Amino acid sequence: MASPATATYAPGYNTTTHHEFRTAHNSAAYLLPTLEKLCATTANPTMLDVGCGSGTITASFAQHFPTLRITAVDLSPEILARAKDHAETIGVADRITFKPANVYDLTATIGTETQFDVVHAHQMLVHLSEPVKALQQLISVAKPGGWLACRDICMRTFSFYPDTTIMHSWTRLQIATHDAAGGSSNAGASLAAWAVQAGASRDKVKLGMGSWMYASPQEREVWGGTFRDRIRGGAMRSKALELGIASEAEMEEMAREWERWIENVDGCCGSLHGELLVQK
Ligand SMILES: C[S@@+](CC[C@H](N)C(=O)[O-])C[C@H]1O[C@@H](n2cnc3c(N)ncnc32)[C@H](O)[C@@H]1O
Repeated sequence: MASPATATYAPGYNTTTHHEFRTAHNSAAYLLPTLEKLCATTANPTMLDVGCGSGTITASFAQHFPTLRITAVDLSPEILARAKDHAETIGVADRITFKPANVYDLTATIGTETQFDVVHAHQMLVHLSEPVKALQQLISVAKPGGWLACRDICMRTFSFYPDTTIMHSWTRLQIATHDAAGGSSNAGASLAAWAVQAGASRDKVKLGMGSWMYASPQEREVWGGTFRDRIRGGAMRSKALELGIASEAEMEEMAREWERWIENVDGCCGSLHGELLVQK
């Protein structure tokens, strides 16, 4: 397991196109009513977006809420540069400050005196070996009365059409390689328990579930293309070989199944995500 000091992002940054599909509406709808109320009642509302990645959700928050000032942090300076380019392209870069930071050491980057109205993290805790420690940091940088908002996948909930044996094998491989790399494949359903372990009071914790569905030709190309490429090269493939859970031939068959799925006009893939809201 990666320790906080050696934190890395196991999937790497060469297959992030599927992240760039994400917006505040398709990936943070559960938070929008809270943000609407906050922005209507607060003079200078602030958000910290942790593990912002290529920043399309971050920029989408800025587009939708013109008074919101956002600090966006990520482990990777490389992906932050991409996020900054995107914010510049859509004209919201003046309202977002990008900074490299490790979630385990947030206060060292942003200072102990700075706190935010909303602390947001999307699909980051799912990758961490110590999510409770990370949540302690996230809670510590929220203002009293402010909000913590986290959304993470439950990997066992992948559903496919066509519902094939190969896609079931791929789902098992995805879960095994993810957990072996130090992540938590059941993150979405674990969010409320983790938040309480991190110090949130149970009566302030609200947990719901949201979904993603990839079904249009463009969605299938983006989503299927990511997993076709990850199974043919990169960390998922090497971890599966290291664990001995699939042979090269079996993984090539999975990559071909993703290609068939992309081409299938009825093909779709859905998944469920835990959505955590905590008022501090
Ligand atoms: C799956 S991506 C999600 C990106 C973005 N939130 C989104 O949903 O499009 C996870 C991101 O978390 C970042 N990350 C992983 N571990 C981190 C850590 N310890 N501290 C800060 N960021 C981290 C990775 O660099 C990566 O960009």
